[in-house]
Amino acid sequence: MKFESRLYETGPPATHLFPVEEKIMMRLKDKISIVTGAAQGIGRGIADRFVKEGAFVAVIDYKEPKTTLLDGQQLYQGDVSDAEVWLRITSWPLEKHGRIDILVNNAAIVQYAPIHEVRLDDWNRALAVNLTSVMLGMRAVIPGMLTRAWGSIINLSSIWGSVAAPGAASYHATKAGVAHLTKNAAVTYAKKQHSRFELIQSIRASSRRP
Ligand SMILES: NC(=O)c1ccc[n+]([C@@H]2O[C@H](COP(=O)([O-])OP(=O)(O)OC[C@H]3O[C@@H](n4cnc5c(N)ncnc54)[C@H](O)[C@@H]3O)[C@@H](O)[C@H]2O)c1
Repeated sequence: MKFESRLYETGPPATHLFPVEEKIMMRLKDKISIVTGAAQGIGRGIADRFVKEGAFVAVIDYKEPKTTLLDGQQLYQGDVSDAEVWLRITSWPLEKHGRIDILVNNAAIVQYAPIHEVRLDDWNRALAVNLTSVMLGMRAVIPGMLTRAWGSIINLSSIWGSVAAPGAASYHATKAGVAHLTKNAAVTYAKKQHSRFELIQSIRASSRRP
């Protein structure tokens, strides 16, 4: 078994906590997915694993990826905090595949300023990129998921969304917001059963806190 190492702002990498399951099981065969902030880092890792598991991935970022995309990945460049951009982001996979099964809201920025040094422009930018984009993404895909009564949404929060470290005020606030907004989505669109046997809707929303 291999272990993934990862850069942590708050301490040394806890590599033993993140075993990487190498066995490919095609668990996402033919799933149409969107992963934001996938030019690098965790988002790129998610996008790569998704295609290995059989998914098509719309890779969203405002940067060019540093390495060549894999088969099954397609780059769409844009700023996820822009509502207009979400119209484009979702229209591409919809035109090609007719649906969006999975959304991963991963794109984010980190600002380290403590509250008394926060510049309002920076604060508003952090809210837009880290939190508003998550709402925009979910708002864009949920209607289609409701029509098909199936969908999966994964929002990247952070341990700093629940545990406080000094400084990084906007990051703490936005990541806590992501976690709670996701809980709201989960209870609003959760699995609904018409009878014991008939599942009429299964939309899952969960947040991850690396
Ligand atoms: N790396 C960690 O240790 C860690 C810890 C906790 C949480 N997280 C969360 O995991 C996610 C990924 O983290 P990472 O370390 O891979 O980050 P990263 O900075 O390496 O990658 C983020 C990506 O998002 C893109 N991006 C940023 N703003 C964007 C925008 N407005 N529009 C489009 N793309 C945009 C960037 O270009 C970049 O490619 C983030 O949500 C982060 O908050 C990471």
